[in-house]
Amino acid sequence: MQLRDRTFLLLGGSGGIGRALATRLAGAGVKLVIASREPDKLEPQGDDSHSVMLDLAAPNLDQQLQRVSEQFPDIDGVIHCAGQNLFQLLEATDVTSIDRMLAVNLRSNILVARHFVPKFRALGRGNLAFVGSTFGSIGFPGYSVYSATKFGVRGFSEALRRELADSPIGVHYIAPRATRTGMNSAGVDALNQALGNTMDPPERVASQIMQVLLKDRRRAYLGWPEKLFVHVNGLLPRLVDAVMRKQLPTIRQFLTAGDKS
Ligand SMILES: NC(=O)c1ccc[n+]([C@@H]2O[C@H](COP(=O)([O-])OP(=O)(O)OC[C@H]3O[C@@H](n4cnc5c(N)ncnc54)[C@H](OP(=O)(O)O)[C@@H]3O)[C@@H](O)[C@H]2O)c1
Repeated sequence: MQLRDRTFLLLGGSGGIGRALATRLAGAGVKLVIASREPDKLEPQGDDSHSVMLDLAAPNLDQQLQRVSEQFPDIDGVIHCAGQNLFQLLEATDVTSIDRMLAVNLRSNILVARHFVPKFRALGRGNLAFVGSTFGSIGFPGYSVYSATKFGVRGFSEALRRELADSPIGVHYIAPRATRTGMNSAGVDALNQALGNTMDPPERVASQIMQVLLKDRRRAYLGWPEKLFVHVNGLLPRLVDAVMRKQLPTIRQFLTAGDKS
């Protein structure tokens, strides 16, 4: 995909992965419209970068998107790199948090795509890139709601890609593994260390997302051996059940250590 002179709406551009991605996109000549709940706090990315307010959890998200696309009619790509998670037992998770994760991580992906697909058809080009997670293919204890949302994004993007296969619109799904950003508390970092899980720097993830866009890849699972585990979990889920059963006491230690952020 040629990136120069495209206009991308970047959701989550204030986050760990999103900030690193914004720098790379701007460097590749992409005009950026970066969305945040607090747009005044966004770092400018050169002359061709704009900030907009979007609350992806808001019931009126569709109207907010309408305002953004009226203000920036040249948007011909969206990267959804926003998200919220909680490392928490399901029984300890309140309904408000569940609703928020469903809204930000899943509902907003669907509404954003629904809003932009007809506009991209009219333009004759467009790309929708969704940042999922390894937990969108492997359900992990303590992340049941987050996993549910990310499984949802993976299924949604796959169906939409197939629905749009004869259109000029590309749909991309990128699944990072654990990444060192503010999304993960110190307790989650410690759990990953205890389990021997690699945590990528956000800059590496951003560079990998750039490669997905430049090479027009449809799906990308980032990190080794995580991309192998995704296949193993698909083929032999009982094997992964057994591995996680053994890890459960360790996982519980971090859950009960009060890591409910
Ligand atoms: N970090 C990881 O270990 C990891 C691993 C795999 C996948 N991922 C995925 O990668 C993506 C980026 O994660 P990250 O680690 O960069 O997260 P992060 O540093 O915590 O940043 C989260 C981003 O989401 C935005 N956001 C959250 N709620 C929002 C809302 N209601 N409306 C609008 N924006 C909202 C935040 O924007 P404002 O606060 O400015 O509104 C922020 O830019 C997410 O989809 C995440 O699930 C992360």
